[in-house]
Amino acid sequence: MSTFKRIISAALAAALALSLCSCGEKPTRSVDEQGVLHLDLEETEVSYKDSLTDDSADYSQEALEKMKSETHYIEDSDVPALYKYFDGRVRIGVAFGANQITDPEDRNTKGIAKHYNIYSLGNEFKPDCINPAEGVYNFEHADNFVEFGAKAGAYVRGHTLLWHSQIPQWWFKADPADTRSLADCAAADALCTSEVLQERITKYITDVVTRYKDTVQVWDVCNEVLNADGIRRIADDSYWADIMGDIDGDGYYDDYVEVAFRAARAADEDAFLMINDFNMEWQGSKTKAMYDMIERLMRKGVRVDGVGFQSHISVDCDVATYRRNIEKIAGLAEVYDECFPEHKGEFRIQITELDMNMFVGSLAEKSFYKWTDEDFKRQAIKYKELMDMFMEFVDRDLIDAIIFWGTDDENSWLNSTPKLRRNAALLVDRDFSLKPAFYAIAEAAFTKTEE
Ligand code: XIL
Repeated sequence: MSTFKRIISAALAAALALSLCSCGEKPTRSVDEQGVLHLDLEETEVSYKDSLTDDSADYSQEALEKMKSETHYIEDSDVPALYKYFDGRVRIGVAFGANQITDPEDRNTKGIAKHYNIYSLGNEFKPDCINPAEGVYNFEHADNFVEFGAKAGAYVRGHTLLWHSQIPQWWFKADPADTRSLADCAAADALCTSEVLQERITKYITDVVTRYKDTVQVWDVCNEVLNADGIRRIADDSYWADIMGDIDGDGYYDDYVEVAFRAARAADEDAFLMINDFNMEWQGSKTKAMYDMIERLMRKGVRVDGVGFQSHISVDCDVATYRRNIEKIAGLAEVYDECFPEHKGEFRIQITELDMNMFVGSLAEKSFYKWTDEDFKRQAIKYKELMDMFMEFVDRDLIDAIIFWGTDDENSWLNSTPKLRRNAALLVDRDFSLKPAFYAIAEAAFTKTEE
């Protein structure tokens, strides 16, 4: 770098550090010459998480049993922290919105910091938020998020670098300023070339992975790249495979996945890089296609460290089928060890977006329903059954994180997807009291899994 550029970038870094601290306070963030974000946290800030739980909190199974008959709220300091029941065997996490962590005194913010030790941002780490226009980066929410994670001593997940949804449309256009829809651009032959798309995604991934090299522990490099039949994801709102094509001529259109992984690995050799997808829980064909695609990538030297099962499930789901599909993906650990012996034993599966749709059976067509204690108990039983299954893989060193997609029943995307309806998908009720499902998750920490 020339001296001039160095002075400019040092000045920019200093200006950024200043702009990130309120007057008089020590700056907590800075960005170095390589573009890496650094946090400089006080010891007191890092102990925020621990300060939220009293020393008197009782982690015994008997105390847990007793708690079930009382009402407790998410932020109560005498309640044990959910993740601590698992004593480091597996991380327990949650996804939330950037607006849910702005006030350390807010009860939900406290609940997030207290109970979980791995975090995802529901939306604000997605490319449409970070890179809405050419040359424009909005890092504010993602920066706040990684800082919150560091203060709470938690891992953070970068979700997600490449997807068919919530991505900037300009990435795919010949002229980034073209205001037409992608479909119109496609019809007018105004999409960008394969080379340009490769450059754009490589630049985006390089910039973002570099920035969060020190502060993000896990990346969903690619999200939802397969169809049920396992060929590729053809969604109306993206042209990944269509534009990038079969670059190496091997007959498969998954080259965009390879380009993304290679860019992420080049930006951070040590990063934990994952592929994330939905419905693999039930669709054997999709799970097999995922296995085949990842094996193909690994044999080409592309290190995929893990697979995420999103796990948007229903209260009537079949746990045996789900177990079989996890087992299939667990088989990739052997391929990984063979292809990357220096990383032997590091392949992992994560449950990345766990929640439970309650509108099933006779309720399937309803939008509003007053959930009863019985419904909540039924839900708790299913969550426990699932957790017991996950714990078998935890104890085989295969699953290392289980993340819930939302903090409470009100803050859940299942209230609006696939349609507006008052769902009850999570562990915490709308009044922030702990549901039977919450205790069921904790209880799984006491289940003995077979050797
Ligand atoms: C969802 C968010 O929760 C919603 O707020 C948003 O409107 C759409 O995306 N699979 C994923 C997540 O990988 O990123 C999605 O999150 C849920 C499905």
